[in-house]
Amino acid sequence: MIKSFLSFALLASISVCSVAQDYNFVVDAKKPGVPIQPDMYGIFFEDINFGADGGLYAELIKNRSFDFTNAPLTGWTTYGLVSVQDKGGPFERNPHYVRLTNKFELLTGTGLVNEGFKGIGIKKDEKYKFSLYARAYGDKPVKIFAEFIDSKNENRGRVEIEISGNEWKKYTGEIISKTTDAHAKLNVGMGGSYGTIDLEHISLFPAKTWKDREGGMRADIAQALADLHPGVFRFPGGCIVEGNNLATRYQWKNTIGPVENRPVNENRWNYEFKHRFFPDYFQSYGLGFFEYFQLCEDFGAQPLPVLSVGFSCQFQRGREQVVSLDSLQPYIDDALDLIEFANGPATSKWGKIRADMGHPAPFNMKYLAVGNEQWGAQYHIYLKAFMDQIRKKYPNIKIVGSSGPDSEGAEFDRLWPQMKELKVDLVDEHFYRSVDWFLKGATRYDNYDRKGPKVFAGEYACHTRPVKKNSFEAALAESAFLTGVERNADVVQLATYAPLLAHVDAWQWNPDLIWFDNLRMVKSVNYYVQQLYSHYKGTNVLPIKLDGANITGQDGLYANAVIDVQKRQIIVKVANASTMDKNVKIQLANLKQRSLVKPVAESILLKGDMDKENALDEPNTTVPKVSQVNLSGNDLHVKVPAQSFNVYVISL
Ligand code: AHR
Repeated sequence: MIKSFLSFALLASISVCSVAQDYNFVVDAKKPGVPIQPDMYGIFFEDINFGADGGLYAELIKNRSFDFTNAPLTGWTTYGLVSVQDKGGPFERNPHYVRLTNKFELLTGTGLVNEGFKGIGIKKDEKYKFSLYARAYGDKPVKIFAEFIDSKNENRGRVEIEISGNEWKKYTGEIISKTTDAHAKLNVGMGGSYGTIDLEHISLFPAKTWKDREGGMRADIAQALADLHPGVFRFPGGCIVEGNNLATRYQWKNTIGPVENRPVNENRWNYEFKHRFFPDYFQSYGLGFFEYFQLCEDFGAQPLPVLSVGFSCQFQRGREQVVSLDSLQPYIDDALDLIEFANGPATSKWGKIRADMGHPAPFNMKYLAVGNEQWGAQYHIYLKAFMDQIRKKYPNIKIVGSSGPDSEGAEFDRLWPQMKELKVDLVDEHFYRSVDWFLKGATRYDNYDRKGPKVFAGEYACHTRPVKKNSFEAALAESAFLTGVERNADVVQLATYAPLLAHVDAWQWNPDLIWFDNLRMVKSVNYYVQQLYSHYKGTNVLPIKLDGANITGQDGLYANAVIDVQKRQIIVKVANASTMDKNVKIQLANLKQRSLVKPVAESILLKGDMDKENALDEPNTTVPKVSQVNLSGNDLHVKVPAQSFNVYVISL
């Protein structure tokens, strides 16, 4: 009896899940609609989750300059005679350094060990570039060593360097690793050499970096970003723009010039969450504004910097700071000077600094956001003060204003009319919302004002409950939502998922687009949704209807169509959020038979276990799968699997 009940239940559930229904989607192939901006889908970078130091920025030493506030030996363990000094160092904006004295009677020798960012990732047989600034006391040269210590406490690669003379000099060496270990350490010491030396800016990079740039970015993470083909690149955040207070806000001028003299700043995500305290989270600014513009150029992405409007992070209710209006000019100058740094001639003050850093040609920055998630009665007054001067000097720069931290509500309703009145070019909207919100959000932009400022969906991600994490469930909801974003490409002109990067051992925020440890990275399933939209964005929207209506969730179906007039393709994206397969006829109406060059379409399927995420050990749990579907005349008959996202590419 129990057995037959079970088989009935099984049969019933199979039939619920697999009976396909029939739908007729009609694409009007003759009516290319509004253009889709080439910059439409992009990336949002913030140094959260150890995304910069410990992440994209390939430096392997934490606190290389001994300047973490109030704790100059953070990240280091010392042995023998080591003291911290702050007078007479080579870099005035990072004044601390260490003095090492070794004596014959010291059994341990003298030295210090760096723990890296939750360890130092080393790979067998790979080369690492070690460097430091040093000076020696006395007439004789002093020998130092730098060696990898693996997780078992064994020496796994070493270099020796002689320090001579009492002038600060840069020394370099190369270490070849004898092992692969995600949690190694670097021991720098004096061994059998005696005397006193001073050391500063102790640095270690993999020889292999993105584009082989000295002191550059981690190649695997940068490649994953490049593979998104981002159209726009928002930087440097996020709340980090605003800082815990005004003094620790992000100041771009501190992030350019020689890395050794970029003053270390605390990271705003250090104490944000009580259960995830990171007192060792600082910003070295090794990934600063020059490197950012350079990455934009590498990726072919438009830079979209975000600058402080004079408010520290407003989430710290009661502790937030606002600069007085009559002290705002230095903040406005920062904006004007940044435009000159990016776009000015090499003969201009800030353009010259860019040229001296190796890029005489301008970076052609088009966008600038003033303020991150700002709200309250004063923001629009402050923004206006910026806009008056920016518009006057740089009328072609597109200015992005904020609609606050919420996707709707009192502040949102207050800010949008203010942004319209100010005539900002784009309004930055942020939404970290539920699955349901994202599915319903497929119609969000259908009735937006076509004449007002455009929308920059500057931070968004679907947050599942009860656990917020990357999953196919979230990715599917995002894919459904984006059909509506794309259909309304005349309103929403830019969109960037957030946050971008997270270290598996040191994160503050989940979900994120890409996860990494000290050796590997993994693309989340949400990454693939972004990538599919970015690669198949087309050039113009095409009308696609079901029974004469937009496809915005009827029986769980969401769809949008675009044409790519350059590649001569029609692309149809379909998300099926229901638990039933759907038989869909995609009819290309008003298209001459002979305009189809191939009788087959490419079909890209993204489907996975709703609860699963791609992990470092299982990176391919849910990835796009490509197959071919035959066309029948101008019609494409497809079975859209239950709970799946699909992209159909038809060549004209
Ligand atoms: O993306 C994480 C944070 O979310 C950003 O720093 C902030 O702008 C938003 O609240």
